[in-house]
Amino acid sequence: MKENLGTDILLAADYLRAGELVAIPTETVYGLAANALNEAAVVKIYAVKNRPQFNPLILHVAGLDQLKPLDLELPPKALELAAKFSPGPLTYVVPSSVKIPGIVTAGTPAVAIRIPAHPMTLELLNQLDFPLAAPSANPSGMVSPTTALHVAQQLGNQVSYILDGGACKVGLESTIISFLGKTPQLLRYGGISLEAIEAVIGPVALPAEGFVDNPVAPGMLARHYATIHPLLLGDANAIIKQAHASNPIPRIASISLYQHFTALPDAYQFQLSPSGDLNEAARKLFSAMRMADEMDIDLIVVERFPEKGLGRAINDRLRRASSAHDILFNTTLNS
Ligand code: TXA
Ligand code: MG
Repeated sequence: MKENLGTDILLAADYLRAGELVAIPTETVYGLAANALNEAAVVKIYAVKNRPQFNPLILHVAGLDQLKPLDLELPPKALELAAKFSPGPLTYVVPSSVKIPGIVTAGTPAVAIRIPAHPMTLELLNQLDFPLAAPSANPSGMVSPTTALHVAQQLGNQVSYILDGGACKVGLESTIISFLGKTPQLLRYGGISLEAIEAVIGPVALPAEGFVDNPVAPGMLARHYATIHPLLLGDANAIIKQAHASNPIPRIASISLYQHFTALPDAYQFQLSPSGDLNEAARKLFSAMRMADEMDIDLIVVERFPEKGLGRAINDRLRRASSAHDILFNTTLNS
């Protein structure tokens, strides 16, 4: 076991007070955290992730009462959502304040706020007298970590400490919703479904579709959640059939909700939820992508998920994972 990985919340707090980076568990994915009010500390996040500086960071707090000292507040509809879903996998984009450094908001007048539902991280935040800026704890563009070990594998000794809070219960990043305009606007599908949000505050505007190279929420960047092997999303049987007609025949791993593909060896198939539960599938998705990627294969084929509940967020991540390989795909299948 790595020596900078453990469950010592006091030690994590000490590192953060000293302006160092600590990976923190949340219910969604692991975050790479720094004191949000310490610019020099936040700069390290961008460096370690190799993250473009135009991509702002989410501010994590333990509760709504921690917003007032920062001169931040949630508008009424956000408060309605917070009453139901906070702490939880929902991030609110609201006007920022002069107390929040420009490095956190990437110079925009808005800040993203989240109250994560993980007991260790809530305890950590309660011990600190500053909020934490934290993106997902992966190198920019790669799959987000859902265990402490994933963080150790991807960022290892570049963080002072990895606070091990076990496997993430939601497994997909938070839903992001902006309250800057008249109508609330979803910026990213995530751990709270569209249906659940609209049941509380009524209709919301949906995220912009397709490739966005100057994104509002750069989780929208087309090249994101990338696996090393090409990943194809669609009608898996049709893709497998096409692939098996090419020469040489590629070795294929599959990911699906529960579908089994007779053309592939069982050991290469990841069925995320035999009972068709999209929450269970969301929880297992990123791990399955990593495991498939580590196999001796040429291609990962993914059956599109039902476009409802967390299925929307799952398909969103998979579309981004697959668009990174569109060109590769054509070469793979045509050569
Ligand atoms: O579940 C999560 O949200 C995880 C955990 C660690 O909290 N965090 C996470 O952070 O996914 P990150 O940086 O990987 O994705 C945050 C997204 C980015 O796409 C970023 O562009 C967007 O939130 N974002 C952050 N601040 C924003 C702002 N002020 N306005 C619009 N989008 C913002
Ligand atoms: Mg991320």
